[in-house]
Amino acid sequence: MKDLSNQKVVVIGGTSGIGLATAIAAFELGAEVYAASRSETSIEKAKSKAPGEIKFRVADTHDIASLEAVFSEAGPINHLVSAATGANRTMAPFMEQTAEQFAEAFNKFWGYTNVTRHGVPHLVEDGSLTLVSGTPARKCNPGMSSLSCVGSAVEALGRALALEIAPKRVNVVAPGIIDTAMFDWMGDNKEATFEQMSKNIPLRRVGKPEELANAIIFFMTTRYVTGTTVDVDGGTLLP
Ligand SMILES: NC(=O)c1ccc[n+]([C@@H]2O[C@H](COP(=O)([O-])OP(=O)(O)OC[C@H]3O[C@@H](n4cnc5c(N)ncnc54)[C@H](OP(=O)(O)O)[C@@H]3O)[C@@H](O)[C@H]2O)c1
Repeated sequence: MKDLSNQKVVVIGGTSGIGLATAIAAFELGAEVYAASRSETSIEKAKSKAPGEIKFRVADTHDIASLEAVFSEAGPINHLVSAATGANRTMAPFMEQTAEQFAEAFNKFWGYTNVTRHGVPHLVEDGSLTLVSGTPARKCNPGMSSLSCVGSAVEALGRALALEIAPKRVNVVAPGIIDTAMFDWMGDNKEATFEQMSKNIPLRRVGKPEELANAIIFFMTTRYVTGTTVDVDGGTLLP
């Protein structure tokens, strides 16, 4: 069932973390893979971890021309993934954020709408789009209102789109805390902080990017799934 040979997969935000793990997993299942992000530095780093045949390209979710260039080169596309971060988020109580700080977090969402608007026309009729939200969409701790609202918007877009773009499919994966470069700002404290965070996760550990990739591959290869969100969070959403 899990065979992507003769299929083209494009991963925007595909040079690190969840996106890179997805690009590698799709390649290993036989796909021709394009993986894109903003910086050459990320691309060089990714190349050192990935099979040489993955085609890395520069593209920014906020730069339509760069997205169009990747989609036109890769198309017709079988599976498109938007795993880009694409925004700075302010982690602070809503009442302590300026309107500008709060709005800035939505640049992730606007980037996803750009990927969708310009990528879906390049999808084959039974192709799939996968977007990435996050557990704060449905379980929000204090200080995470912007993440929660953006994640909810991504999940709502997935459901709304599913009705409009069928038979093309769209799904959302919602990660819990996953060990990626997103947490590199923690420096030497990363491991200890993850250990502390794990105490509140039923499976008692943070997740691996490969575990998210597995869920995204499920969306690509399971052709009767659309408009759904799958949580890959070690049970974090449990009451
Ligand atoms: N890790 C977690 O715990 C977690 C939890 C919940 C949700 N998520 C979501 O999962 C997604 C992937 O995150 P990750 O943890 O894999 O992060 P990551 O390791 O930092 O990877 C982010 C990727 O996005 C690219 N990117 C950022 N802005 C971009 C833009 N404007 N256009 C194109 N590419 C862009 C980055 O490369 P460049 O810098 O070169 O552009 C990089 O390839 C994000 O949407 C994040 O919000 C992650």
